[in-house]
Amino acid sequence: MNIKKVTWGVLSILILFSLILSACGGGEEATPAETAAPEEATAPPEATGKQVEVFSWWTGGGEAAGLDAMIVVFKAQNPDVEFINSAVAGGAGTNARAVLATRLSQNQPPDSWQGHAGQELIGTYVKDQKIEPLNFLYEEQGWLDIMPATLIPLISQDGNIYSVPVNIHRANVLWSNPAVLEANGVTTAPTNLEEWFAAMDTLQAAGVIPLAMGEQWTAMHLMETILLASLGPEAYNGLWDGTTDWGSPEVKTGLENYAKALGYTNTDAGSLSWQDASQLVVDGKAAYNVMGDWAQGFFQELGKQPNTDYGWAPVPGTSGTFQFLSDSFVLAVGAPHRDEAIAWLKVAGSKEGQDAFNPVKGSIPARSDADKTLYNVYLQSAMDDWASNTVVGSLAHGVVANDSWKSEIDTALGLFLADKNIDTFQAALVAACQSSGPCQ
Ligand code: GAL
Repeated sequence: MNIKKVTWGVLSILILFSLILSACGGGEEATPAETAAPEEATAPPEATGKQVEVFSWWTGGGEAAGLDAMIVVFKAQNPDVEFINSAVAGGAGTNARAVLATRLSQNQPPDSWQGHAGQELIGTYVKDQKIEPLNFLYEEQGWLDIMPATLIPLISQDGNIYSVPVNIHRANVLWSNPAVLEANGVTTAPTNLEEWFAAMDTLQAAGVIPLAMGEQWTAMHLMETILLASLGPEAYNGLWDGTTDWGSPEVKTGLENYAKALGYTNTDAGSLSWQDASQLVVDGKAAYNVMGDWAQGFFQELGKQPNTDYGWAPVPGTSGTFQFLSDSFVLAVGAPHRDEAIAWLKVAGSKEGQDAFNPVKGSIPARSDADKTLYNVYLQSAMDDWASNTVVGSLAHGVVANDSWKSEIDTALGLFLADKNIDTFQAALVAACQSSGPCQ
């Protein structure tokens, strides 16, 4: 028997068979990876040794989807780099930031992480020399012309710029369920706290949960919006620069308003995530929820329709003010994969990266040259407000207070949520400003 002939025969059958198989491929277009040369197609990115580890807390509810959309852009531009997504679950970074702090103290930083613009960045990572200045990237990418001038001072110290803002989120949003409001006769939108409380009295009497709330950081989020509504933007800003007295009667009124708002919340708040609380609204189980506009990303992921399944307005009494925060990415000092981290930062600061991330995340881009048509009706309204409103910073999301001050406020808040004693709470807030804020 001629071995050569048999081998060729088997080979031709195999080739024919594989041709038939590929012809039966269901008409789907091959992805670039599938059409690449065999070695490239099978080689996992780590075979090149190139990686980047990015740390955040975006693991679900619209947040992971936003991050994933930006990772797609990164991978298209950096096909030979393995992306290690080290997100740690827990809204507002409650768990993630503790994990990050441990890693930083052990000198094992991720290459890049999400750090809020403002005091969180400056008072923690810059102060502890954990992140590198990025002026070289700003110059190279022309970002100074395109990033908001209001934001640059919040990510800078001594002429150094320390992070790449990927978005602007709004904190003072009142989400509502239009059908629940209508069914209970709440047909005019409240414009101040008194009108809002009156509407919530009606809802409560009808057996509806007036205001959905979740775990403690969401209580701090509610508190900062009620303080803003009670004090107005100027005196609210004064809380953070020492010109508003935490012991004043105005602040006491703000805390009384906050205590009143808490009286409308669900009893199981402490055991709910922010997504659970927001979901109560779109499920028709609660009328309102005060939450940042990442809720928009979550509602979108749930397939809910703006203006039908959910409505929005500035928290009553805060119209004309945009209480903001900004997610930004940093470069670790001693980043194990510095070049790849810089490649990630370039995507985070790019128009393409931001226009992929933000329409899904429920935020507006930090860059001023976004393609507005990619953003839904809520986000377009947020863009208009960001451009025209008075801008103030968020406490719960790192803008106005450094970590030690915020953590003292949080401890005082935890006690207050348990005992509801306004005088003790106010005294603790005065003390917190003295020990860690500008009231020293
Ligand atoms: C904020 C963060 C947002 C969103 C939110 C809820 O601190 O800036 O991007 O993730 O927490 O987790």
